[in-house]
Amino acid sequence: MTTSSSAKPTLAVIGGTGAEGSGLVVRWAVVGYPVIIGSRSQEKAASVAAELSAQLPSGSASIRGDENGAAAKAGDVVVLCVPYAAQEGTIAQIVEGCQGKVVVTVGVPLQPPKVSTVWRPAAGSAAEEAQAQLGDGVRVVSAFQNVSAAHLKDLSYTVDCDILVAGDDKAAKAVAIELANAAGMFGIDAGPLANASVAEGLTALLIGVNIRHKIKSSGIRITGIGRAEEQ
Ligand SMILES: NC(=O)c1ccc[n+]([C@@H]2O[C@H](COP(=O)([O-])OP(=O)(O)OC[C@H]3O[C@@H](n4cnc5c(N)ncnc54)[C@H](OP(=O)(O)O)[C@@H]3O)[C@@H](O)[C@H]2O)c1
Repeated sequence: MTTSSSAKPTLAVIGGTGAEGSGLVVRWAVVGYPVIIGSRSQEKAASVAAELSAQLPSGSASIRGDENGAAAKAGDVVVLCVPYAAQEGTIAQIVEGCQGKVVVTVGVPLQPPKVSTVWRPAAGSAAEEAQAQLGDGVRVVSAFQNVSAAHLKDLSYTVDCDILVAGDDKAAKAVAIELANAAGMFGIDAGPLANASVAEGLTALLIGVNIRHKIKSSGIRITGIGRAEEQ
């Protein structure tokens, strides 16, 4: 990864205080994306932002924290990374600040305690539920569901997982693919937002693989597709 800080969009990572979100924050900040961590608590957001900033090499972009609604308003792109059970309530806090923007949903609908069994909400996927709640003024893209949080903050670790990017707007998908590639992963256009149900379901399957193989970060890789290092 490089550490250039050319003009990049500011990312608001809602739930960036958590396991998955904080790992993504680190991966994006180190390659120059200014990041605002969103939280229910401004204090918690600021504290996690300071903690993550301290781990980054000099030359990385800034990480700051704010309350969810303010973070979404200040971000150019919003990344939603909260547990499924918290999705509806969190979107209610950020819906205004997301209007006109791309929102990348990372959430997976899991039904504890059966977290290794695929479960789909009535809309088909958490991403489609998010789109319905955020409204037509927001372009929702689903991505990063299959990347385990386990090693994300360890920048010496190469994440061996492709990123399936589903959405109904090509330009919005390009934003998420760029974020995947910038974070050292491989983003793939996986079709319309309705296909988010497959990527979300895969996570339950991967959790089961992790449990049965006593590992922490199984992932997926699409074969038969050209990659930069092979071209
Ligand atoms: N962990 C993984 O390996 C992984 C991998 C792929 C996808 N995902 C998906 O990514 C999403 C986040 O996962 P995570 O493991 O990072 O979750 P997490 O650490 O449990 O939670 C992330 C953040 O969400 C907020 N949150 C938690 N519970 C909440 C509640 N009841 N109401 C409102 N906000 C709440 C918290 O932020 P504040 O307290 O700061 O508000 C928390 O720091 C989930 O949908 C998960 O399925 C996770």
